[in-house]
Amino acid sequence: MSVNTQSHWVDALIRPQCRGFEPYLPGRSLESVRRERGLKRLYKLASNENALGPSPRALKAVAQAGKSMLRYPDGASTALRQALAKKHGLSADRVIIGAGSDELIELLGKTFLNPGDSIVVSEHAFIRYRMAGELMGSTVISVPMRDFTHDLAAMARAIRPDTKMLFIANPNNPTGTYNTAAELDALLQRVSRLNDQGQRLLVVVDEAYYEYASAFAKDYPDVAALQKRHAHLVALRTFSKIYALAGLRVGYAFADPAVISALDRARPPFNVNVIAQAAAEASLRDPAQIQRGLRLVKDGRKAVLPELARMGLRVVPSLGNFALMDVSPRRGTDVFEALLNRGVIVRAMDEYDFPRHIRVTYGLPVENRWFLKALGEVLGA
Ligand SMILES: Cc1ncc(COP(=O)(O)O)c(C=O)c1O
Repeated sequence: MSVNTQSHWVDALIRPQCRGFEPYLPGRSLESVRRERGLKRLYKLASNENALGPSPRALKAVAQAGKSMLRYPDGASTALRQALAKKHGLSADRVIIGAGSDELIELLGKTFLNPGDSIVVSEHAFIRYRMAGELMGSTVISVPMRDFTHDLAAMARAIRPDTKMLFIANPNNPTGTYNTAAELDALLQRVSRLNDQGQRLLVVVDEAYYEYASAFAKDYPDVAALQKRHAHLVALRTFSKIYALAGLRVGYAFADPAVISALDRARPPFNVNVIAQAAAEASLRDPAQIQRGLRLVKDGRKAVLPELARMGLRVVPSLGNFALMDVSPRRGTDVFEALLNRGVIVRAMDEYDFPRHIRVTYGLPVENRWFLKALGEVLGA
């Protein structure tokens, strides 16, 4: 069979929802760019990682846990669940661990969405919510933003009788904007009323940048407190950002025990590996790691933002460890390419419908300086 015939033959087997599915485009890796361009000096500021790297405690735990890799992991990630529950004053049956929060987004879809259901997302929101809905054959209702920010009132108005889930990225990637405690509370109250009237709707708040956001904004919501009043609230968090464990893939969710139990039934039995569980748990015992990560971003903002202003770029105010900037009239992909040639990997934003923006993660001082120098050259500023 020729390759062409073979792929045609397979096409007929693929679920209609997956047939035209566009895969997620991750940030370019250091290795692939190095291979392709042979650059000696290369910095990655593309995936909102923490350039300081993981806690020494996590590294020690990795070495220790490596010895037990011949065994299957504890499929329920019990110790990590308990550690997170204790840290946040919750019972352990309100916590689930995933292979990144990404797996939990998909698991929410697999567990709760049917073809014919709908989900509500914001325009320019983190794209994996839309993908989770599309994968399950659900309709995705996309609501316009207000000032680069999720418009929660408009999202509430967009809820239909067939809506099962509403996703909010708080703060959002790639815009970095956030919704306040008061805004979220108003939305949750409205959803509670709808659920009292017979609607069955979950509100998923993705707090991948929680540690930054809660430190930088006084009016940032406290989801653990809100969950006491709103059983339909699901919160997602991750060890990929400030904890600097992106390569190990660990995320978690807080939710009502009934929601957690449903997710647990659909979860792959050994979804989080031995080393990842141990590193995440050890990271929780190192609060200094959080302080170092916050300081890096504070310093990064101080160094980078005035320079971007001097270059005449409009930057969206961000609570995360990254900034979205308008490079018009240039195309974001052109600026991305030109920066790549100068040894800096950032992200073009076409898939987020921002064709004239780029997003950059704050890095180490040397990385930020190199980015600014390269950007200045590219823009002639
Ligand atoms: C808003 C948001 N949610 C979720 C994720 C996925 O994170 P994880 O590495 O935990 O899968 C990211 C990663 O960039 C993100 O920006």
